[in-house]
Amino acid sequence: MNAEKRNDQLSQFIIPAEVPLHIAIIMDGNGRWAQGKHLPRVAGHRAGIQTVRNVVSACGHWGIKALTLFAFSSENWGRPAQEVQFLMNLFYSTLMEEVEALHQNNVCLRIIGDHSGLNPDLQKAIQHAQTLTAMNTGLNLSIAINYGGRWDITQATQVIAEKVKQGLMTVEEITQDVLSAHLSLASLPAPDLFIRTSGELRMSNFMLWQLAYTELYFTDTLWPDFDDAALYKAICAYADRERRYGILAENQQVEHYA
Ligand code: IPE
Ligand code: IPE
Ligand code: MG
Repeated sequence: MNAEKRNDQLSQFIIPAEVPLHIAIIMDGNGRWAQGKHLPRVAGHRAGIQTVRNVVSACGHWGIKALTLFAFSSENWGRPAQEVQFLMNLFYSTLMEEVEALHQNNVCLRIIGDHSGLNPDLQKAIQHAQTLTAMNTGLNLSIAINYGGRWDITQATQVIAEKVKQGLMTVEEITQDVLSAHLSLASLPAPDLFIRTSGELRMSNFMLWQLAYTELYFTDTLWPDFDDAALYKAICAYADRERRYGILAENQQVEHYA
């Protein structure tokens, strides 16, 4: 589909005034999608790439500033070797194929997670993509590969401990803000909206620190079926939420106590 037609399609949705600035998604259900069609699980992963393209263009069009996608967890290494290999190849080929278009669309791409666990070709492709798109001012797209929330907090703690050891900071200077500033997505605000597809109701070790006050949204839709309308529905659900951060809503502030 050409860009004009795609934009027409996206313009048909009336986007609420209160959009989330940062959306984080656990893209789940590829395997079950494929199995439901009597296809091998990996066919679901392949189909999921088209959903990623659609979600990226919709977020760009609808004024979302940041999108973070969970593609491969620290725990996913425990899957059968063939599936892991397929996914790693898919990440590599997709990165190579898409990087130019992302760059043309002003997307700033980052891959978060422990890069050292990835094969050298993939590491090089990541480096290239990140350098090429680093100065782009459009959508901040972060893809989590070999990522875990516990890993992220641990690596941040190690960096901070090293600074204390070298006398660059004191123990008392370690605050929540300091820890936040050492996490993978330190330069972005925490996600406003978290989406998980496929009906699973858990975090599976995704962005544990940053999701503390994020609005959570779960849908039974499997990732390859998650279309513009499904994303729109999640954004509208977010717009209807009231975020309180532990304090009282405005209309509850003036209660009189006897
Ligand atoms: C999500 O789909 C993709 C990855 C975790 C890589 P799954 O592969 O987890 O699909 P299901 O949950 O088995 O259906
Ligand atoms: C979470 O999905 C990780 C990604 C989507 C990359 P999983 O399918 O691995 O999570 P569990 O095993 O159901 O918790
Ligand atoms: Mg899954």
